[in-house]
Amino acid sequence: MSFIKLFPSIPLSRIRENFNHLWFVIILVFVFTSKIDSRTIEVHEGESIQKAIDSLEKGDTVKVFPGVYHEFLFVDKTHFTLSGVIVDGKWPTLDGEGRLNDGVIGSGANFLIENFHVKNYKANGVMTQGAGNIIMRKLIVENTGIYGIYPTMGINVLIEDTVSLGIADAAIYIGMCHNVDVRRNEVYGSVIGIEIENSTNVLIEGNTVYDNSAGIVAFALPGLPLKKVENVIIRKNFIFDNNHRNFAEPGALVAGVPPGIGIGVMAGDEVTIEDNIIRRNSFAGIGIGDNNLLPNSKSPDPDVEPNPDRNKILENVFIDNGVRKWNDLMSWLFYVIRIIFSGNPIPESPNGGKVGIFPDGYDVVASGKGKDNCLIAPDSVTKIGTSGYGLCNPKETTEKIKTMIGDPKQGEAKSDARELGKQVFGAVCSGCHSMTIRTVGPPIKEIQEKYKKDIYGVVSFASMPKKVREGFIEMPSQKYLGNEKLTAVSNYILNLKDEGSKGVTK
Ligand code: HEC
Repeated sequence: MSFIKLFPSIPLSRIRENFNHLWFVIILVFVFTSKIDSRTIEVHEGESIQKAIDSLEKGDTVKVFPGVYHEFLFVDKTHFTLSGVIVDGKWPTLDGEGRLNDGVIGSGANFLIENFHVKNYKANGVMTQGAGNIIMRKLIVENTGIYGIYPTMGINVLIEDTVSLGIADAAIYIGMCHNVDVRRNEVYGSVIGIEIENSTNVLIEGNTVYDNSAGIVAFALPGLPLKKVENVIIRKNFIFDNNHRNFAEPGALVAGVPPGIGIGVMAGDEVTIEDNIIRRNSFAGIGIGDNNLLPNSKSPDPDVEPNPDRNKILENVFIDNGVRKWNDLMSWLFYVIRIIFSGNPIPESPNGGKVGIFPDGYDVVASGKGKDNCLIAPDSVTKIGTSGYGLCNPKETTEKIKTMIGDPKQGEAKSDARELGKQVFGAVCSGCHSMTIRTVGPPIKEIQEKYKKDIYGVVSFASMPKKVREGFIEMPSQKYLGNEKLTAVSNYILNLKDEGSKGVTK
């Protein structure tokens, strides 16, 4: 697609300079809808959406009318729009009835998904894998298992005006992406509201985030193909009452996240927190820590720098964080009991904090080391563990940065075929499997020990998983990936080197 054709009077360099969020939306919507030979395919209740998707050609639009569709949609195409039509307030609904794994999985590039109510799936609501230049907006995602809206390995991703609730891990989960905007979404009733994991250049703005166990978190985890969280702005969000009971699968990584956190940063760098209203989060309005907070911190990844560095807490409104009501105490008690029964140690309390089952709560809780972190108004907040924090420069606001979405060319870059296994691992399996630690599924190390060189064994398990372990969810089938991708990824994981052990065998 050429932008010069669309805007003949504007030189390309100017467009790049001025490229911002609005342009991105306008250009993409224009591109999606402007092709002369593009078609619009209508789907009405009783018909199959997947069938329409399978017939998609470049530039086409699928319009889905209100009704209930019990489907899993898989799209691996470029330049298309999948759009619900809302009539008299009635939305098209994708309902997995608690038996299907995923609502929508999209790969490819340059597409827009909007106006769907997605509910009752077991794994993910709307997931994209290795996709670039994508917009997901106006979605209601409800009770869809582990993740709600979940782009992974994406470049140039915009998520806006969605509502997600009832998710057992992260309602919006940015996994290993670059250049992401998450704007004006409402997320509640989930374990994590919005999670940024091993991703760079992310703007989280104008979201309403409440009644989760933790509101917004940015984690750099070991054992994944991308190694850091860097350059994140968390701005102008309403983050309140995130004291929900942590209902993650016991033993899953996020089951270790204590309830009562507004914003949490673990090993993240250059995270700027500005102009948020942060209210009544009973453990920490903002918590910043290092990778020692992980349950299995003894097998670090030498390529993940474990400390939080260069993070800034600028002007925010803090009200009544660390204050506990009866319900908050119950959430905490439930958490402690679960942690004890899962055999994990209770996370250590922050620097100098009282060790105890009920640690005090504060506006800002910091733990571990880390360089060049700052607070703009330390005297105005209740805090602990921040003695190593400097004063932020009041002139350094993020005002000038309007978007993190970058050059669309990056998002269209084609993948190298030899890298297929790595790509599929990054885009799909790594959502639940890390090299060294248990996230949702068992670590790759354990899979390697069990399967040795049996690539076919992994392929057949991944296409038809059975229940093996107590205390794990059943792994959702990956059959839709097809044999080529499954073989490539199985080969990749069985030969993946345990980089983590380099760090401990000295
Ligand atoms: C939504 C989360 C999720 C995703 C995505 C996922 N897995 Fe799993 N996987 C699990 C869970 C949970 C288990 C443990 C299941 C059990 O023990 O009952 C598991 C177990 C496994 C096992 C061990 C089976 C055994 O015999 O012990 C293999 C092999 C495996 N996964 C491969 C893969 C591959 C390959 C991919 C990517 C194509 C993948 N998984 C994607 C969650 C996931």
